[in-house]
Amino acid sequence: MRYLTVALAKGRLADFSIEVFGNIGLDVASMREKTRKLIFTDEKNKLKFMLVKASDVPTYVEYGAADMGIVGKDTILEEGKNLYEVLDLKFGACKMCVCGYAEQPLPSGFIKVATKYPNIAREYFSAKKNQTIEVIKLSGSVELAPLCGLSEVIVDIVESGKTLKENGLAVLEEICGLSARLVVNRVSLKMEKRRIMDIVGKTKEILLNDNHH
Ligand code: PRP
Repeated sequence: MRYLTVALAKGRLADFSIEVFGNIGLDVASMREKTRKLIFTDEKNKLKFMLVKASDVPTYVEYGAADMGIVGKDTILEEGKNLYEVLDLKFGACKMCVCGYAEQPLPSGFIKVATKYPNIAREYFSAKKNQTIEVIKLSGSVELAPLCGLSEVIVDIVESGKTLKENGLAVLEEICGLSARLVVNRVSLKMEKRRIMDIVGKTKEILLNDNHH
């Protein structure tokens, strides 16, 4: 039996992902140890887990270097790769929003929008609202942009709302809800259907039980 490879987004979602896989009986003990290793093996179930940067998960899965992956819907929308999204894992729930100063309503003309998600921002403003914008791509601490006049607004993830509040900003418009998703490579889903659907099925069960308690 060949190894099935699972790409997990490093960071916030990693701990949840490890917990879910542990709960369905996979051997994730080595992943719980704090090391700098990037590949972990579950010999019994012939699985390999890889910790990759969140924005790279869709790439590994699209090319089949990973058979499946766990990644946020934000990354799936932004990367626009060709993959099967088979399950909403519900954890990591947050929203993609347009944010700025509450006292300044969203201008309807040309504006600058700072974001880590240029494709999502362009799709929302250009395609949905028919508004011309200039996207300014940043890599983090996006809330700074309106504070120093780099942009009028930002498109960013809001979870608790704490970052916005502590920087005097507010949600102006909600773009969409987000959460972690299980994604699968198109060929893998055909070739390894039984093993993959077994993992999907068990994960679904765990999620249902969690919601009932
Ligand atoms: C994310 C996001 C917001 C913040 C939202 O940033 O970009 O800044 O979390 O969370 P909150 O609503 O609970 O405050 P992240 O911490 O990933 O860091 P970054 O600034 O490097 O993007």
